[in-house]
Amino acid sequence: MTAFSNKIEKSDIIVSGVQSTGILHIGNYYGAVKNYVDLAARIDNPLYFFIADLHSLTSHPDPKDLMHSRYMTLAIYLGCGLDPERATIYYQSDVYYTHELYLYLNMFANIGELERTATFKEKIQKQTDNVNAGLLTYPVLMAADILIHKGTKVPVGKDQAQHLEMTRTFGNRFNHYYNTSFFKEPLAFTFTENLVNIPSLSGKGKMSKSDDKSTAIYLIDSDAEIEKKLKRAVTDAGPQEPNSALTEEMKNLFDIMRLFSKEEIVNEYLKAYADCSIRYGDMKKQIAQDAITTLAPIRHNIEKYLGNKKLLQEIAWSGAEKANQSAKQTLEEVRDIMGLTSKNIHLRVN
Ligand code: ADP
Ligand code: TRP
Repeated sequence: MTAFSNKIEKSDIIVSGVQSTGILHIGNYYGAVKNYVDLAARIDNPLYFFIADLHSLTSHPDPKDLMHSRYMTLAIYLGCGLDPERATIYYQSDVYYTHELYLYLNMFANIGELERTATFKEKIQKQTDNVNAGLLTYPVLMAADILIHKGTKVPVGKDQAQHLEMTRTFGNRFNHYYNTSFFKEPLAFTFTENLVNIPSLSGKGKMSKSDDKSTAIYLIDSDAEIEKKLKRAVTDAGPQEPNSALTEEMKNLFDIMRLFSKEEIVNEYLKAYADCSIRYGDMKKQIAQDAITTLAPIRHNIEKYLGNKKLLQEIAWSGAEKANQSAKQTLEEVRDIMGLTSKNIHLRVN
């Protein structure tokens, strides 16, 4: 059972971020960023949304590419409608206190459990020539991002659930060792019944930035690209007999359709699948049309922000200032708890 919550309490502190590697896709949008936007619009709790540029260092990006992805991710947050007046938006690398907490939390992470993390196992298969220690301790840095603001709710997609469990483990070990209740247990957050998992257009697995570009719909894809990608989305050969169960490919395509098309349209196509009259070409055209209606205004908004470098810079600076205030307070208390401070010192003479 995945631990998550779809409720926000008055005392909750919300923290989340997306790694700035490449361009965000609709999985990132529905799994994470849309929830940031909706939370900022609906609640008055403290909200910290950052661009996880340090996490992207694990794949050794070219500095120019990294600069571009950081900037692009920020423009995407804003273009999706995230209000910088209501949420603190910043680059992860601008809050040095996180780097320090990462070091401390490393003392509470066991090598074995880090090696068993699903994302680590996946990464070392994909990135065989670069299995660095940053990949291994990726969940520790993520815990530091959350605990530095004493975060309690973390809007993320399903793939991050294990990382959140590890954050709770590291925080609890710290609490236990120092006999304190300093860190609260953060939970993954979603507005929906379950954590979101947007499938890949390849028919298998989740949509991901690190897979073939044709298998993901990016938030800056043109209308023509969206149409082309959906046209090529993998399906099965068609239902062989009435009332067949949906194959994995078709379940995934219907999941994507549900994001954009009205319920009655989805039901019509489900009915056509059940009575074997479905035409996949028509279904894909319908999804493309509805997807474009949703995504084109977002893309235009992103383009507007991309053209306003100065505004983006100001938002990132002001966000970093606010995030640093909250982080500094946490870190000073952590240092006190750990005995890394000269405050209240009792010198031992022998
Ligand atoms: P990617 O796997 O594409 O590199 P990230 O790991 O950077 O994505 O994830 C950024 C955020 O987007 C996380 O909160 C993650 O849970 C969410 N996310 C990524 N892919 C999906 C997906 N296919 N469905 C739902 N949420 C997703
Ligand atoms: N691991 C997340 C991703 O793959 C990014 C991330 C880094 C994050 N630190 C976080 C998400 C803290 C939520 C909270 O994109």
